[in-house]
Amino acid sequence: MSSHGAPIPMTSRKSPPLKGVADVPGDKSISHRSLILGAMAVGETQIAGLLEGQDVLDTGRAMQAFGAEVTNHGQGNWSVHGVGVGGFAEPDQVIDCGNSGTGVRLIMGAMATSPISATFTGDASLNGRPMGRITDPLALFGAQSYGRKGGRLPLTVVGAADPVPVRYTVPMPSAQVKSAVLLAGLNAPGETVVIEREATRDHSERMLAGFGADISVEDSSEGRVITLQGQPELTPQNITVPRDPSSAAFPVCAGLIVEGSDVLVPGIGLNPTRAGLFTTLREMGADLTYENERIEGGEPVADLRAKFSDLKGIDVPPERAASMIDEFPILSVVASFAVGKTVMRGVKELRVKESDRIDAMARGLEACGVTIEEDEDTLIVHGMGADGVPGGGTCATHLDHRIAMSFMCLGMATQKPVNIDDGGPIATSFPIFERLMSDLGAQIVRTNS
Ligand code: S3P
Repeated sequence: MSSHGAPIPMTSRKSPPLKGVADVPGDKSISHRSLILGAMAVGETQIAGLLEGQDVLDTGRAMQAFGAEVTNHGQGNWSVHGVGVGGFAEPDQVIDCGNSGTGVRLIMGAMATSPISATFTGDASLNGRPMGRITDPLALFGAQSYGRKGGRLPLTVVGAADPVPVRYTVPMPSAQVKSAVLLAGLNAPGETVVIEREATRDHSERMLAGFGADISVEDSSEGRVITLQGQPELTPQNITVPRDPSSAAFPVCAGLIVEGSDVLVPGIGLNPTRAGLFTTLREMGADLTYENERIEGGEPVADLRAKFSDLKGIDVPPERAASMIDEFPILSVVASFAVGKTVMRGVKELRVKESDRIDAMARGLEACGVTIEEDEDTLIVHGMGADGVPGGGTCATHLDHRIAMSFMCLGMATQKPVNIDDGGPIATSFPIFERLMSDLGAQIVRTNS
């Protein structure tokens, strides 16, 4: 089943050179945070360029259920009339976060230090994902939670009536866990400290500072130490959401593997905690250039130009994994067209994403004739060179948008077409993917249409 309807099987086939400009949508991580922080500020936050994917729309609806006014003004312009830190109302219905781990985990954090209860659910993918990584630190603030076995959704959080601030070291590299603790810390009196051993995306820290919270970050021998003073009054903001590097990855990578391509992807956020894929591609020999580098809304941004390239396999340094964690599926596609093997280590977090992404990519690539090695924490792809990948497989997407888009890009450069069982989840993060890729020249179709 698709997350929001019947499955949508799709096929992609060898495409002519991809040419043109790809205007990808707004950043998903920043879009979720804009709505949640807007709901926790006092007054009206304006957002331009919001990603209108299902995940973010579900977060917007959730913020309404907690009492904020969320208004769509058209063309990516939204406003949120916030209720202030500690001002959430108790929702009178179950909060359905659909497919979105970021949505549910950040919202659980945001409500956990208010004296209200909320029950959360999602689709089959989300209800299978671990939530103990969130409810454990929320318990330290005084919140209680009651979920299914292993802390899975549906799950009820009973917020702490008298929250206490916490000092918490995040046990795995996860921006969602870090952010949930910071959002919970907003309504706890005193100082909440979050320590991460490896740097993960820092949008929450940047945006909390932008909304006027007293937050500081220090590098120490323990890692990044983030200190937040509780119970600030957050000031509403005018936010322009940069375009999503994780969505840009698809037209960029397709441009690198489809012979003769030259694709321009403008205005992409290049926050160093997100840009690991582009560094990796350049190390593989990609003709990928940054044009018109600039700062927009406090984030580094550039126009990316990707041209078809002869690529070589490399070892991706494990310490880079967090800065490209969502890009390993599409990197494994690119690696299939490189000469030599590409080794991705330190990637076990991929096993608890929207799907087990190591397993999903390994099985699908094997079905298309690529040799794969894997263990719990590693994925190795044996590249077959440009034009060397047979294709011809049907790949299961497991309700995972990035798996679906990765296999659609694969089929644009394989000898035989590549099929997926369900492209429906693409709408969670990149609702215009099919049109945008088709406009560049990609041969992708819905198989039953
Ligand atoms: C995200 C954090 C990452 C990433 C997800 C978005 C965020 O998840 O995979 O797509 O916006 O904080 P983890 O925190 O599980 O690494």
